[in-house]
Amino acid sequence: MNKAYSEKEYVELINSALYGFVELTGGEEDEVSEAMLYSLKNGGKRVRPMLVLEFCRVCGGDVQAALPFACAVEMIHTYSLIHDDLPCMDDDDFRRGMPSCHKQYGEATALLAGDGLLTLAFSVLSKAALSAERKIEAVKVLADCAGHLGMIGGQTMDLAHEGQKITLDQLRKTDALKTGRLIRCACALGCIAAGADEEMHKAAEKYADSIGLAFQIVDDLLDITSTAEELGKPVGSDEENEKSTYPALLGMEKSVQLVDELTAEAVNALKIFGDNSRFLADYAVRLSKRNK
Ligand code: IPE
Ligand code: IPE
Ligand code: MG
Ligand code: MG
Ligand code: MG
Repeated sequence: MNKAYSEKEYVELINSALYGFVELTGGEEDEVSEAMLYSLKNGGKRVRPMLVLEFCRVCGGDVQAALPFACAVEMIHTYSLIHDDLPCMDDDDFRRGMPSCHKQYGEATALLAGDGLLTLAFSVLSKAALSAERKIEAVKVLADCAGHLGMIGGQTMDLAHEGQKITLDQLRKTDALKTGRLIRCACALGCIAAGADEEMHKAAEKYADSIGLAFQIVDDLLDITSTAEELGKPVGSDEENEKSTYPALLGMEKSVQLVDELTAEAVNALKIFGDNSRFLADYAVRLSKRNK
């Protein structure tokens, strides 16, 4: 069994690798590089890169070798947040406890910083000390999950549904794409880095899809129940934008219940990994009870 890591150890490992990928040249392009670093640095939970590394470990792979995959998915996630906060999308002024990228650097630079992170992610993937075959598979999975049939597709639906009355099926699909796909991607990248078998891939996908949906429901609940200080981003943003969310459609109580059910499903999906999956099981529960 590979050496186990704590959440703190993973976060340190991820952060020290992540920042090193954004090169400052001393030239005029540093304007955008600094904005990229600004958004990467200010304290995300690092959920997705941690899932990459832990799935890699559980499937018997080399955690260090998977670090570029982990950083790539965090770059895509951070870019999605920069764009998500723009006035043309959710129009939110705070992110990760700091002014949003566009508040700090202006809209044009924030747009470009997002583009820069999206592009850099693929360069970083290519640097992993893994076989070309595994890297090509990772490129495909990351591009598909982030793209118009993945996260971007989900964001499109999320915006289209503002002020609309939609069905639970529509909401489930939206959340599965806008948030679920990158989480599925993270778990899949860990499996790919490790050269996992079909059964492991399937279990990872089931776990990912369950925690992915639960993750967005908790995010929607916190937008109602938490404070901006605690979350590091505005609360009440969903109501202001007339977003279609689980709490809006189902009510708070049923949403909390659904989170618990999905979390139990996620834990159940880990059975094939036996005792080795304790971190992932605990993590699913911690995420379901998180307060930020
Ligand atoms: C927030 O993601 C956006 C959603 C997809 C719900 P996180 O809650 O993972 O944000 P950070 O990375 O910790 O800031
Ligand atoms: C964002 O969902 C999903 C993304 C793909 C970025 P939200 O719009 O609810 O995320 P927050 O609440 O702004 O972090
Ligand atoms: Mg949004
Ligand atoms: Mg938002
Ligand atoms: Mg939200």
